[in-house]
Amino acid sequence: MLTPVSYVGRVVVLLAAVLVTTSITMSGEWGEEGVTYGQLGKDVILTCAGASPGSPVEWRWDGATVLPGDSAAPPGQLLLPRAQLASEGIYSCHDTSGLLLSSTALRLGRLPGVPSFSCRASNYENFSCFWASSVETFLPTRYIATYRKRLQQPKDESQRSPTSDMGLCIQDPAHPLLCTVSKSQFWSSYRMNVTEVNPLGSSFRLQDITVQAILKPDPPEGLRAEPVPAAPRRLHVSWEYPSSWPREPHFQLRFRLQYRPVIYNSWSVVETANVSEVITDAFMGLEHVVQVSAKDFLDAGSWSEWSAEAWATPATGQTAAPSEAATAAAEPEWPAEEPSLAPNNEPVAGRSDPTEKVAVLVSLGVFAFFVLAVILAFAFLLWIRMKKHSKEATKNHDLLAAAIHMKALPKAQIL
Ligand SMILES: *[C@@H]1O[C@H](CO)[C@@H](O)[C@H](O)[C@H]1NC(C)=O
Ligand SMILES: *[C@@H]1O[C@H](CO)[C@@H](O)[C@H](O)[C@H]1NC(C)=O
Repeated sequence: MLTPVSYVGRVVVLLAAVLVTTSITMSGEWGEEGVTYGQLGKDVILTCAGASPGSPVEWRWDGATVLPGDSAAPPGQLLLPRAQLASEGIYSCHDTSGLLLSSTALRLGRLPGVPSFSCRASNYENFSCFWASSVETFLPTRYIATYRKRLQQPKDESQRSPTSDMGLCIQDPAHPLLCTVSKSQFWSSYRMNVTEVNPLGSSFRLQDITVQAILKPDPPEGLRAEPVPAAPRRLHVSWEYPSSWPREPHFQLRFRLQYRPVIYNSWSVVETANVSEVITDAFMGLEHVVQVSAKDFLDAGSWSEWSAEAWATPATGQTAAPSEAATAAAEPEWPAEEPSLAPNNEPVAGRSDPTEKVAVLVSLGVFAFFVLAVILAFAFLLWIRMKKHSKEATKNHDLLAAAIHMKALPKAQIL
């Protein structure tokens, strides 16, 4: 009936014309041509647009005439009620002579769920967000990650400028489920929007972050622990800044070092701003394990993970007196539990006594000075007044004596 050319043309037109219902999207943007997407558990309707109205159509599923169980075929259509994964496959419709009218691959899945994500800055220049889907969709999925930046001002949100501060959180195909904002501003807050998209729809989550709050350096690197010659209780420990931390004078790190003999469980901790530290209370003759972690010098964000471990045993020096060896082995010497944390409380309490004494002395001095000043002022006024009176009387000697007498009087009263 048809010439080969018009036949091919017709098939092409029909392939493009397979219509979809509300629960189905057909889309080439997902890289799979001729695929129809349907929602699991919903009624899926395939339409054979190539059928002339009223003429019967035959459906085939993966080439066979057997169709999924409860499917129905209203004129020109195929209905798959509450479609399940088992109903996926290639559906084709044919006219009565068996001629292919159109075909499509049906893939079933779910709408995207709201993705979960968190963000972290391993330095003050960049930060990254990591996300995970919350629903198994069975469908090709991609993510759009954007941010809206604003300086930290407690103004109401409606006054933000709408578009100028928006940007894309850049995704790297080599690292899926992750995006990076470069040249981040330490004092700005960012409203992150991570959107999960699949052929059936999209779903997004918003989250406000500030770089200082999500700052978490990488662990320090190159940790080394070494014995100190002739010092049986010392270990010299050194490390380097994490390579992901740009070295700049304004953004430094501080460190905490934890150490213990390998055979004990409890750590001692010291904090330092340096990249080396001498442990002075190591156990003689015991192998120690050491780790270090880093935090922003001004306490922004959180501590890094602990670095890789390093091991060392103090030197066996001759300086070790027998008594020192004895105390070193005794229990009470060791449990200086986290000495770096304790000083925050104890020395303050210890220092309070002398400080109080000084304060009392100072206030006594101020009080005495004040009293003296009042007395002198009083005496001066008295003297002026009496001098006026005495201009006529000219009894200077007597008045001066009186003034001196009055000077002593209020002092006794006040005190
Ligand atoms: C989040 O991003 C998606 C995709 O770009 C967009 O459709 C949605 O409107 C955004 N939501 C908000 C609140 O900005
Ligand atoms: C910021 O991120 C980019 C891309 O991930 C990286 O090349 C660059 O080294 C990072 N900058 C710093 C200071 O780490």
